[in-house]
Amino acid sequence: MISSLFRRSSLAGSHARLSVASNRGFRSDLYGTNNWNWTKKDDLAYLRAMEYFEPRPPTVKIAVTGSSGNIGYALLFRIASGEMFGKNQRVQIHIFDIPPMIEKVKGVAMELYDCAFPTCEGILVTDDIERAFADIDVALLVGSKPRGPGMERGDLLRDNGKIFQSQGQALNKCARKSVKVVVVGNPVNTNCLILANNAPDIPLSSFCAMTRLDHDRGLAQIAKKAQCGITDVEKFCIWGNHSPTMFPDLSNATIYGRPALEVLRDVNKDEDIDKWYRSEFIPAVQQRGAAIIQARGASSAASAANACLMCARDWEKGTNGGWTSMAVACNKEYGITPGLFFSYPVVCGNEGVKIVDDLPAFDSFAQEKINATEKELLSEKDAVASMLPN
Ligand code: LMR
Repeated sequence: MISSLFRRSSLAGSHARLSVASNRGFRSDLYGTNNWNWTKKDDLAYLRAMEYFEPRPPTVKIAVTGSSGNIGYALLFRIASGEMFGKNQRVQIHIFDIPPMIEKVKGVAMELYDCAFPTCEGILVTDDIERAFADIDVALLVGSKPRGPGMERGDLLRDNGKIFQSQGQALNKCARKSVKVVVVGNPVNTNCLILANNAPDIPLSSFCAMTRLDHDRGLAQIAKKAQCGITDVEKFCIWGNHSPTMFPDLSNATIYGRPALEVLRDVNKDEDIDKWYRSEFIPAVQQRGAAIIQARGASSAASAANACLMCARDWEKGTNGGWTSMAVACNKEYGITPGLFFSYPVVCGNEGVKIVDDLPAFDSFAQEKINATEKELLSEKDAVASMLPN
């Protein structure tokens, strides 16, 4: 079927001008465009067939922990459908959860099978972390113990620390040395620190803690206030810990290429935008997770899954020079204590994740925020010192 379509050279010729569209990941990209309007049904069948005919890269093996939770449920189907690495990229998904959750996870796997996604080559369900991490290219570590009644932050750090300590050892033993690891389970920066320290054979640059959700939350708030599109906002970033001490920073941000604060002042002439930035915007982004828990009665799931997907996709495919935020291993950049997993503005490309350098010095307001979030990360590090062998 595919080869006969391929031999129809006149059809192939007529689609030369569609090459950009046909290389895109999703057919929905064509909806509403001129291509969609004039493309006949047969032609669309051809485009779809070509997506699967073109030579494909080797299968990517992805492990997801905590798969029985709401984030896992929102994440797995999007990975399997090709939304993370593209429609031309087959994936094998290793679904891990702890023994009491394994029956639930089997149900999720049944639903994944029932979707018959052409990109999903295989699904493994296991409660054995070494099997889950065997030979993987990507690890999305969603699972962590939530804070229970009467639990102090220190208890949470220690309980999750044990989980991430053993997962680090298993990654070190079983994953490919080129594995890329995104930590989503809270407290995310310190879990990532423990993980990386327990996986000495995997480069530190292969680990990140997710602050993409905070980044996207900030972008959405800025675009709403400036009445512009999301992609009009650039060079926004999150510094520090994924916690209420994080610093969502507008000082380098631009809207339509102009300083963001200037555009925000123009659009909101009657409002004190500096006051909005300091007293509304920053706290809103810092406290968004808690606000969602209060409104929904459960922590963010679909938006967290989306952020995880976007973080892994951008890391693999690149950001085309654009900024995003990721908490990565610090090597004294911007004066931060080396070794912490600290959120920075980053650019992803062929050389991996690069922290944006040479930004202007922080003003006193920004420096104070940076100091507070660094101090919190240092105290978290102290609380888990016994789990950091390297
Ligand atoms: C979030 O940011 O939504 C999550 O990390 C949940 C939380 O506790 O804030």
